[in-house]
Amino acid sequence: MANVLLVPHQIFTGEGALTKAGPSICALGKKALIVTDPFMIKFGNVAKVEDMLKSNNAPYAVFSDITGEPTDKMVEAAVEMYKAEGCDYMIALGGGSCIDTMKACAVVAAGGGAITDYMGRSIEEDVAPMVAIPTTAGTGSEATRVTIIADTVNKVKMMLFGPSIVPPVAVVDPQFTMTAPPSVTANTGLDALCHCMEAYTSRLAQPLTDTFALSAVKRIVANLSTCYHDGKNVEARAQMSIAALEAGIAFTNASVTIIHGMSRPIGALFHVPHGTSNAMLIKVCLPFMITGCYPRFADLGKAIGVAADTDDDKTAAEKFMAKVMSMVDEMGIPTPEQFGINKEEFFANLEKMADDALTSGSPQNTWHQPTKEELIDLYKKLWD
Ligand SMILES: NC(=O)c1ccc[n+]([C@@H]2O[C@H](COP(=O)([O-])OP(=O)(O)OC[C@H]3O[C@@H](n4cnc5c(N)ncnc54)[C@H](O)[C@@H]3O)[C@@H](O)[C@H]2O)c1
Ligand SMILES: [Fe+2]
Repeated sequence: MANVLLVPHQIFTGEGALTKAGPSICALGKKALIVTDPFMIKFGNVAKVEDMLKSNNAPYAVFSDITGEPTDKMVEAAVEMYKAEGCDYMIALGGGSCIDTMKACAVVAAGGGAITDYMGRSIEEDVAPMVAIPTTAGTGSEATRVTIIADTVNKVKMMLFGPSIVPPVAVVDPQFTMTAPPSVTANTGLDALCHCMEAYTSRLAQPLTDTFALSAVKRIVANLSTCYHDGKNVEARAQMSIAALEAGIAFTNASVTIIHGMSRPIGALFHVPHGTSNAMLIKVCLPFMITGCYPRFADLGKAIGVAADTDDDKTAAEKFMAKVMSMVDEMGIPTPEQFGINKEEFFANLEKMADDALTSGSPQNTWHQPTKEELIDLYKKLWD
């Protein structure tokens, strides 16, 4: 079977990546819109991008009204500013929320209309030039052909996709992740772990995505815990930044599976951050996932060194699962109850969540393909 692998045209990584990327960034247009959130200003991260632009004599404007995971309304506001300021390219600085907003903004700025108009078809036309600078080691959005935007009318997280929204320039400079607090480090790092675990065990995996996924799993297991307990550890932060990028490349080309499929409806209805809802689901989904895919989970167990080459597939897969579950425990991920979700409301929405999960197509990429009833059972297990 033939495969294609999409990646950004230029990926700058490592210490000093922003400085090195400066001339390539500024060549993209005459005036940049920096798409960011208020915390990035507070932590001094925006100032670093501004300094780089100033040293290249490049004009810019700043949109910093991203106040949570992106909605159609935030996209509308960002596009309005982009046009009012006469910008002709965009730089996202922040976590997945800022990068995803920028991608949607780039589509609407070039093609007009509202972001909801682009739902359900591949985005292949020209969009505004984009630069993605992640500040979390998590979503991998800097390298993916996906943007996730909440449709505030229908209360669903829209997954918009297409080759045109892979950012042409990605700047993965670990200096920007240093300020992430432990909870953000944990949520986003476990999101990245889900990306590579799901990509490697997806029905759509291909040889090149396997390479990226295996490398990402190894880096995450070796470094996430250090970043969580010691956020100032530069080397561990650098390794996690690369891992999140690798995991992004893996999943955008191999797709995610049941965890992400079930996670989006929880995020849309109960406003649970993306990484947290994924992490909540790991414990109920992994035992279901491995039964359809022991050999691949066994590879993961052997790659991270918890399983021996002599272990049979089931044993090695279970050892991998145990390691991942211990990481979830170590990082204090809340249950839905601890997060404050109302149980009655959650149970009243089981049918909608299972339907929305299946409509996204992600659960069907799991080797053990779930039925709607099985999805409902797994959602219920979150409360056991
Ligand atoms: N496009 C994709 O491929 C893709 C993949 C996975 C998830 N997502 C989406 O990405 C969004 C989540 O992104 P996220 O998990 O990166 O979190 P986020 O961007 O929502 O950020 C979470 C919080 O952490 C703060 N933060 C981020 N970086 C920080 C830093 N360096 N220092 C201090 N605080 C920092 C932010 O200000 C925010 O308050 C969701 O909307 C999710 O659906 C997209
Ligand atoms: Fe994710």
